[in-house]
Amino acid sequence: MKKLFSPPPLPSTVSMEFKGRDLISIADISKDDVFRVLKKARTMIPIAQGAKVDERLKGKVMATLFFEASTRTRLSFESAIQRLGGRVLNFGVPEASSVTKGETLADTIRMVEAYSDVLVLRHPQEGAARLAADFSQKPVINAGDGAGQHPTQTLLDLFTIWDEKGVIEGNRVVLLGDLKYGRTVHSLVYALALLGAELTFVAPPTLQMPREIVEMVNELGHKPEEVEDLRKAIRDADVLYVTRIQKERFPDPQEYQSVAGSYRIDLQILRDAKKDVIIMHPLPRVTEIAPEVDRTPYAIYFKQAFNGVPVRMALLSLILGG
Ligand code: NCD
Repeated sequence: MKKLFSPPPLPSTVSMEFKGRDLISIADISKDDVFRVLKKARTMIPIAQGAKVDERLKGKVMATLFFEASTRTRLSFESAIQRLGGRVLNFGVPEASSVTKGETLADTIRMVEAYSDVLVLRHPQEGAARLAADFSQKPVINAGDGAGQHPTQTLLDLFTIWDEKGVIEGNRVVLLGDLKYGRTVHSLVYALALLGAELTFVAPPTLQMPREIVEMVNELGHKPEEVEDLRKAIRDADVLYVTRIQKERFPDPQEYQSVAGSYRIDLQILRDAKKDVIIMHPLPRVTEIAPEVDRTPYAIYFKQAFNGVPVRMALLSLILGG
């Protein structure tokens, strides 16, 4: 498909036509484009809730190829296209497809693109979505490639901050957890830096943000704080973005054991937090947020998960020209 950038990505200032585009990395889209998606997403909320009917994508087919587990991303994409009158072609579990017969990703993509108008791909290998886009004439949306990128999660995270706080710029966003293997934070910090938020990284020392991502953020003129003291970081946070330790990405199970359960957000640790802090999490959570936090006004992770529907509706509608 039309390529805007090849890696390493550079910040874009020019708004590009969305129609027919791939979305592989968050660095593929400019600041103006981000706000185009967010503003359109806001208009999609009544349709996402089923309160209004709109069939602007009638006749369009979206193929979902998930080579890795997913609940929210796949279902919210499927809900998004169906709420707009389109249909889903679900590849199912990889075990049920010709992948088990040894078919390559490139061949699978060449088939699926012939059956659909847009492809949504999740894959355990970093770079898989970029490869798929190289083989596909139809737009490819990256729904997570290994520890690489997760750009649509970033758009819904940005939407959530914008919706809750009114602005993104100037908010201090504290990112807590597995910053090394978590793809959601890899995409998100780039966008937050581009949009002028302040960043604090809190992680066990072995799970800090990869240097190349810190450098990308530095190139945007931002200097994230890297701290180990969670209490202090929480005091300054406008947004606390918590992540799960990505157990499945550890090459060594012992390395995982050494960090498992090393942080947890509960009512006690939130005592000194700002009264209007919002707590976000891409989900699924394991033990890193105590269930007691769910009842506080700070907890917006379930609303954040809902926001995946209007944001993906906006994106699909822009890409498919609905
Ligand atoms: C995340 C993912 O798959 O990267 N989940 C999601 O898409 N909402 C986060 C995770 O698995 O921890």
